[in-house]
Amino acid sequence: MSAEAIRVDRVRRVYPVGARGSLVALDDVDLTVAAGTFVSVIGPSGCGKSTLLRVIAGLEDPDAGAVSVCGNTPAQAAAAKMLGLVPQTPALLPWLSVLKNVSLPAKVNRAAGRRRRERSGNGGPDMVELLRKAGLQDVMHKLPSQISGGMQQRAAIVRAFGLHPDVLLMDEPFSALDEFTREALQEQLLDLWDELKATVLFVTHSVSEAVRLSDKVVVMAPRPGRITDVLDIDLPRPRGPELLASAEFHAYEDLVRDRLRGAFQSTAAS
Ligand SMILES: Nc1ncnc2c1ncn2[C@@H]1O[C@H](COP(=O)(O)OP(=O)(O)O)[C@@H](O)[C@H]1O
Ligand SMILES: [Mg+2]
Repeated sequence: MSAEAIRVDRVRRVYPVGARGSLVALDDVDLTVAAGTFVSVIGPSGCGKSTLLRVIAGLEDPDAGAVSVCGNTPAQAAAAKMLGLVPQTPALLPWLSVLKNVSLPAKVNRAAGRRRRERSGNGGPDMVELLRKAGLQDVMHKLPSQISGGMQQRAAIVRAFGLHPDVLLMDEPFSALDEFTREALQEQLLDLWDELKATVLFVTHSVSEAVRLSDKVVVMAPRPGRITDVLDIDLPRPRGPELLASAEFHAYEDLVRDRLRGAFQSTAAS
């Protein structure tokens, strides 16, 4: 794997609005994400976070600029299952058990799974083991409707990790959950990330979530959608409850909040 898992180079994305207007969702966006790191994207609603993820996932093409994922185009990376995407809502198949839901992508993409395992040099993650790590061992034979929203979201995350992607893109995966569930899921996500050595690009609205999870926090501003800051989060891991209560942690939260305020103001001024 190249040292750069994601490279976004001068990307522009413009949407038509009405008959003549247009909206610049991404303006000259540059971003590099080093392999194995955890990077969060934060910014006001409408600043282009989801657009950035869709362009990196290969679901949309940029109008200018280029994107590469592990040295490939997004389409190639997606076809080779190097890329995983966790959407905001879990979207599990209602008629399949939790275990069958999370095992399905690996089954459907057996050839891709084999290639990935050869490349990563291990047997790939065992789904039952991943479910156990995510605290879902007791519900793996239940249907999605029989478990809580938090458990469904955990299952969706396990499913995404199940293909052992090099790059995992997550678009506000915890935004619908209560604070308590959210913190537990953050911990489980960090455990999976640490074990599977994936690169994660994570969109969030929450300052504390961004600081807790990330090596870097990317701050975006809208109209036009652009990156205004990239902040290094130099905190030790694992990031347990003690660290979350520390002055250092709060100082990083203040820093991100301050830059976010700048992003909001730069909107008003433009
Ligand atoms: N398919 C689309 N057509 C037109 N405008 C869009 C489309 N998708 C997003 N936009 C606009 O582009 C901007 C960025 O959207 P989005 O990436 O969803 O922002 P965020 O995820 O940061 O809230 C917003 O103003 C949004 O209304
Ligand atoms: Mg969005």
